[in-house]
This record gives sequence, structure tokens and C-alpha cells, in this order.
Amino acid sequence: MQTFLEEIRAAIEAETGIESPKLETPRDPAMGDVAFPCFILAKERKAAPPKIAAELEAALNSRMERVTAKATGPYLNFTIERAAFAETVLSEIAEHGPCYGTSAEGAGQKIVIDFSSPNIAKPMSVGHLRSTVIGAAIQRLHDALGYETVGINHIGDWGSQFGKLVAAVNRYGNTVDLEGDPIPALLALYVRYHEEEEGDPALVEEAREAFRELESGVDGPVRQTWRKLTELSLEEFGKIYSRLGVSFDLIRGEAFYEPHLDSTVDRVVASGVTEESEGALVVDLSSFGKIPPCLLRKTDGTTLYATRDLAAVFHRWEEFGFTRALYVVGGDQRLHFRQLKHVLERMELDWESRVEHVSFGMMRLPEGKMSTRKGRVVFLDDVLDAAAAEASKVIAEKNPDLTDRDAIAETVGVGAVVFNDLKRERVKDIDFRLEEVLSFEGDTGPYVQYTHARLASIERKAGEVDAPCEWGVLEGAAGILGQLGRYPEVLRSAARHAEPSELTTFTLSLARDVNSWVARERVLGQSPEVTAARLALVRGARQVLGNSLAILGVGAPTEM
Ligand code: ARG
Repeated sequence: MQTFLEEIRAAIEAETGIESPKLETPRDPAMGDVAFPCFILAKERKAAPPKIAAELEAALNSRMERVTAKATGPYLNFTIERAAFAETVLSEIAEHGPCYGTSAEGAGQKIVIDFSSPNIAKPMSVGHLRSTVIGAAIQRLHDALGYETVGINHIGDWGSQFGKLVAAVNRYGNTVDLEGDPIPALLALYVRYHEEEEGDPALVEEAREAFRELESGVDGPVRQTWRKLTELSLEEFGKIYSRLGVSFDLIRGEAFYEPHLDSTVDRVVASGVTEESEGALVVDLSSFGKIPPCLLRKTDGTTLYATRDLAAVFHRWEEFGFTRALYVVGGDQRLHFRQLKHVLERMELDWESRVEHVSFGMMRLPEGKMSTRKGRVVFLDDVLDAAAAEASKVIAEKNPDLTDRDAIAETVGVGAVVFNDLKRERVKDIDFRLEEVLSFEGDTGPYVQYTHARLASIERKAGEVDAPCEWGVLEGAAGILGQLGRYPEVLRSAARHAEPSELTTFTLSLARDVNSWVARERVLGQSPEVTAARLALVRGARQVLGNSLAILGVGAPTEM
């Protein structure tokens, strides 16, 4: 695609003297592949845009070989010769293979991505699953464009609830299977302590005392227990991460920033934006509208989630000097991130605009909204297990002879859940329905995976075809070729907007077009030249689907 754009730009530049002219995509693809609006030129030359367009048409056509220009109203529309376009795009994909679409344009720029960030000693929620899946996709998108990315798991490992947990472990630890199945065990301990605490002030005091010791930094029995809880929880989360194929550059929880809290508060105070309010230290944000102040220190001297996020963002800025710091966190924390950014704004830190809350909507499971305290939770492992089991059933029906069924069922089941999380604009809420998510026919991960496997199977059957391609037979695949050529731009746009759904939408539309093309046109059993050209399209489409799925974090089986 790039080579054609260069050819068009060069022709316009030579003819008009405009340097790197701006090209657009025509609203109606039937009009052409790219368009050049003549308004600015018309102004310069003091003539009507349609007149300029008409005048330029012939001149440009004599300068271009593989592109035809046509004046339509105030626009010049350019149509790239189909055969040349097919040959160029498909050769480019074949040449770059898994790297097709990637670039080095982000080189030297650091992108910090705070994602997943579950809370220790609690089950990872569906919200954390969304953050994990969306955040990892955003990281891979930036990786593909050559940015230096730092994925940080900002686990929730700090707060007074850990005093309660340590006290609960001390009291009732031996009544549960802490090592064997830590999360349900800790959950049960927490629920029990929470209930019994209501009638017993001694328990409240015990929990407080434990947290005081934890905060004091003393490396005694309380800290040891707390550390153990963190380790056990991370081991459990690790199981989910490995099923999802997600890893982090840094696992740095809130506790990591604990030693930086005093200096953080000092820094905000020194910038002159703090004030006392009923004994607490706050930053007033009323100049930004109806928004509550940001609380830095409570009356009793303890800091808050926001204080720890301020410490974290300062630390990250100093360590990385990021181009963007993305926080992939649910929409229920919108206020928190607005406050965080407003504090930076009041401090007049010019890098404030680089800090972005990458918000997302809620996912509702059929079981209803989950609540940790009531102990009514859905364990993510169970959701993934159910998806894999369901996928296994479908595969058994459709393809009973498949050798590696269990492994492929895991790829399809987990891929279905991941794809479903990425397929709509991330701010939208979604209802999770397993049957829909796993359908091989709808707008689903399995549908894209199935298309990928279908193309791979055609490739296997065709083997090596040693003949020149008759590109003209790809006339009916113009739409597909256009999409394949557009893929690098899709990656760029999806990264810029931190919006993986732009890529899922692209893969779905490509998969749909490819499936109907495959149903219409035969690849095998044609003259070698025709088979060669159609096979090149099959390979190109399979490669781009595979590359897309890899970035989304969805496996791409070659058989299913
Ligand atoms: N642990 C938090 C929660 O589950 C999410 C943390 C998000 N990241 C951050 N830097 N605040 O609600």
C-alpha cells in the first residue's frame, strides 16, 4: 500500500508543488482507494475546487503507471490497478510473515501500562480479567509498533484489611487449607472475621494492632504472614495469567510505594496546593468543577489509595520518563483517576496529559454482580474451565478425528473468553453468556479461529504450487486485499486509541469476507496460475488473521 501512496504523492507533488499532500480515504470505496481533496489548492489558485480537480486529472494520469486518477466534484479519486495492488500487498505479507504490520515507529518512546492489578487474598474478579486481557492487548499493540513498553501489575497488597487478614490467619488459620487452596481459604477467613468482629471489639483491636505493626515496617511475624499471603495469592493469579499467556515486566504492588509516601506528601505540600480540612490533608479540586477534594492523609495519619497512586506515578515518571502512562482500570474508578490527574495539573506538572485512564465497562456474569464480602463469587478458573469444556464438546461433534483435542479446546475456550472481552468498544458494559461467546458462527473468537484453521487447511491441501500468479483472478477479492493493506494502519490506530476493539472489528470483518470468498471461488483444482494467485490470497489472509490474533492474545490453531 505504502508504495502506491508514494507514487500518488510524488505525482501530486511534481504537478502542484505541494509537499507531502494529505490523502484521505473516500467514504464510498467504489469511488477509489484514496482521495485528494482540492480545496486548499483551489483557494491558492483562486478557482473552484471541481475545476482544479478536472484540470489535474489528465496531468496526473500521465505521471502514474499503476494508479488511475478520476476527478469527482472537488476530489481527485485514485484507483490502484487491481493486479498490481494484489501482487504488492500479498508479496509484502509473504516477505514479512509474522512481522507484517509491525514497525519501529515507536522506538525510543516508553509506554507504561498499569493493568490487571488484582487485590491480594481475594479472587481475581471479572473486572480484573478484563483489565488483564485489555491491558495485555494494548501492550502487544505498542510492542508491535516498536515502543518500549513496561507492563506493571499494581497489585492491591496494602490497606487496613491486611491487618484483619493477618489477625484472622493467626486466629483461625488452622481451620482452612491455606496452602492447598489459598484464595477460598482466605476469603472464608475474611468473611468469618468480618462477621465475628461485629460482636467482639477485641477482634477489631487485634486487626488494628496488626496493621499498625505492618505499617511500622518492622520485619516481624505480621509482615511474614502478610508476605506469605501475597506469595500464595500471586501463585494462584499466576495460574490464570499462564492460561491467558500474560506476563508482566514488573509486579509492584501498592506496598512497594509505602517507603515513598512521606516524600510524596511532602512534595505535594511543597508545591503549595494542599490544605487542612477537618484534620485531614487534602488537595482542593473545586476549580475543576463539582469534584471532591483528593484526600492525601487522614486525621489518624494514614494514607490512602490515592496517595499511593501519586507516589507510584511520580516514581514511574522518574524511572521511565514515559510518553504515555496508561491505567487499564474499570470505569468505576473514573473519579479516582480524574482526581489523580487534577492533582498533577494543580502542581503544574507538564507531563500530566501523558497520564491516561484507559477505562472499561462492567462485565455481568449470569450469576449477578459478585461481592467478595458476602462470599458469593465466581472463580475465573471456573469460567475458563467451562469455556474449554464447552469448546471440547463442540469440537468433538464437528471434528471427531482431531488428534490434539484437549489442547485445542483450551485454546478455543480461553480464546473465546479473551476475544469476547475485546470485541466491543471497551467502555461498553457487556453481558457474558457462555453459549454466545463460544459460538462458531457469530462475531466470536472461535469464528475467527475457525476461519484461520480453514485457510490453513486449504494451504495444506494445496502444498507447493510452482507457477506464476495470475493476479487478475483476484478481481473479486478487492475488498479483502484492501483490508490486508490497511492492517498496519489498524494497528497504529488501535494503539493510539488504546482500543483493541478496533483490531477485533477488523479481524471479524476480514474473516467474514474471506469466508464468503472461499465459498465462492475455488482455490484447488484450477490451472496452476489461478491456484497460485488464489493460494497467495489464502496465505496472506491467514497470516494477517494469525498476526491479529497473536496481538489480541488469542491462539490461532491450524486445525480445529
Ligand atoms: N487493585 C485495584 C482494584 O482492584 C486496582 C488498581 C489499579 N491500578 C492503579 N494504579 N490504581 O480496585
